[in-house]
Amino acid sequence: MAPSVARLLKALIMSFLLCLSLLFFSGDRAAIKRIAYEFVEDKAKEGVIYVEVRYSPHLLANAKVHPIPWNQKGGELTPDDVVQLVNEGLREGERAFKIKARSILCCMRHMPKWSMDVVELCKKYRNKGVVAIDLAGDESLNCEAYPEHRKAYEEAVRCGIHRTVHAGEAGPASVVREAVEVLKAERIGHGYRTLDDKALYKKLLAQKMHFEVCPISSKLTGAWNLEFTEHPIITFMKDKANYSLNTDDPLILNSTLNDDYRTAHTHMGFTEEEFKRLNICSAESCFLPDKEKRELLNTLHAAYGLIQTTAF
Ligand SMILES: *[C@@H]1O[C@H](CO)[C@@H](O)[C@H](O)[C@H]1NC(C)=O
Ligand SMILES: *[C@@H]1O[C@H](CO)[C@@H](O)[C@H](O)[C@H]1NC(C)=O
Repeated sequence: MAPSVARLLKALIMSFLLCLSLLFFSGDRAAIKRIAYEFVEDKAKEGVIYVEVRYSPHLLANAKVHPIPWNQKGGELTPDDVVQLVNEGLREGERAFKIKARSILCCMRHMPKWSMDVVELCKKYRNKGVVAIDLAGDESLNCEAYPEHRKAYEEAVRCGIHRTVHAGEAGPASVVREAVEVLKAERIGHGYRTLDDKALYKKLLAQKMHFEVCPISSKLTGAWNLEFTEHPIITFMKDKANYSLNTDDPLILNSTLNDDYRTAHTHMGFTEEEFKRLNICSAESCFLPDKEKRELLNTLHAAYGLIQTTAF
């Protein structure tokens, strides 16, 4: 019997916000706040009770950002304003839909000069909605070539800012190694290519490194171009690795978290037990302060104790 995916309470820790919509809305204050608010609404409908959503504040700004993204004319909206607007939208969404939402600010691999700015924003808003720093984009641009990212992550370590890094999505296992060893990542975004380096994979399994995996995204971006039935996520499942199931960018992909769960169930042999286990892993690896993390875990444990198995 198929697990009751839609009703399962979930913790979602890797979801992109605003990537596509920013092409139309960057610089538009009301739209940015509204998109953040509606994002919380959508996640609440999918059974998510805690979400960490990530975005690049610079890609939505048109002032105090060089170069100005998307060939726009200069305007008034700074990356700092963007963070405030997203925080406001998320907060209003939390109140309206009774779930918890936090954000992660992204550095972009091809824009190293933004990275110190990103870590400063993480510091400024750390108790106001922002929980971590991320590094996203083209993995061929490694940190040896771009020391600014390393400097930003060193500052994050120094200040106790949580760290995740997109690595081993399309890029090689060496990018994962760099994320862990140089950038001191606490979680790896995607990480599929880790499996190409057996020694590294074994080490990360032993370390209980958390992988934020996104099945539908990996297929649509071409990061994984074979069948779902051969996906590296299946290896993570079989090895009882520490990982979570996520959407990546629902606006670009036009898919929901429940589509990812159904894909994992239908094509990858995931059971309801595994869905519960990976949500516990997700909550244990989330970037909330300890007390709030315990509350989240308690809520999930209570819900999973009670949930009935039914069809979709
Ligand atoms: C997005 O998906 C929904 C539901 O599958 C579909 O009805 C809609 O047409 C899709 N939108 C786009 C822009 O592809
Ligand atoms: C996953 O990582 C979190 C955070 O380090 C840890 O608390 C948890 O025990 C790990 N889970 C597994 C199954 O390794």
